[in-house]
Amino acid sequence: MIEQINESKAFIDQHLEGKQPHIGLILGSGLGILADEIENPIIIPYKEIPNFPTSTVAGHKGQLVIGELQGKNVIAMQGRFHYYEGYSMQQVTFPVRVMKALGVEKLVVTNAAGGINESFDPGNLMLIKDHINMMGDNPLIGPNEDELGARFPDMSQAYDRELMEVAKNCASDLNLTLQEGVYVGNTGPVYETGAEVKMLRTLGGDAVGMSTVPEVIVASHAGIDVLGISCISNMAAGILDQPLSHDEVIETTEKVREDFIQLVKKVIGKM
Ligand code: HPA
Repeated sequence: MIEQINESKAFIDQHLEGKQPHIGLILGSGLGILADEIENPIIIPYKEIPNFPTSTVAGHKGQLVIGELQGKNVIAMQGRFHYYEGYSMQQVTFPVRVMKALGVEKLVVTNAAGGINESFDPGNLMLIKDHINMMGDNPLIGPNEDELGARFPDMSQAYDRELMEVAKNCASDLNLTLQEGVYVGNTGPVYETGAEVKMLRTLGGDAVGMSTVPEVIVASHAGIDVLGISCISNMAAGILDQPLSHDEVIETTEKVREDFIQLVKKVIGKM
């Protein structure tokens, strides 16, 4: 894998004009708009990057946007790879490996998620304190490449405590409600049943989605400090007496994206 990582890194390096990114951003469904705020952007479609998979979901662009945000050099994934698209866990997380090789030390991971915690409202932002991997797979299965990280990595601090404090302070400065909770990663592509949501609540989940967990596992393995933010785009199945749709998810994230953009920008300024 290291050879492939280095090949992708070398290709991206050629476009960087000396701008080494230190902060990575993974932008979820409906949240890719944040990449439009990046100044002096260098845009590289995934399909041009050697060894990168390509993205297929509606509402997801597939490109890297590299430039400055709040005076910091950042690299953003506008659109991510999902396990439910049929990619392997290694493919889903490959861009995180490449970010690390490019010099990324801190990563902001975002997603749209269904609210399991009944005190949440659609449109809330949630700081991810921890996660539960319900995907039945793990990107680190297979031979461990010791140069990339430990065989048995600690996951007790997968989400960086200092970055969580920064995010809370920024939300309070902006007068934004920032919920906190545990993100459950399911494979999708189906939304949950009502019974599954009840189970996940019993297990300690506050929000559920179909991404993020693989990327955070790999970032943690790679020694990257992670901040996770979910946009609660809907209440998870069975809480309200109505079916879920991807359109609803996109609609709600569009409504809160101003708050989301403000929060992430402020946090990046303080990173
Ligand atoms: N479940 C799983 N993934 C999601 C949801 C949900 O309710 N909303 C947005 N992504």
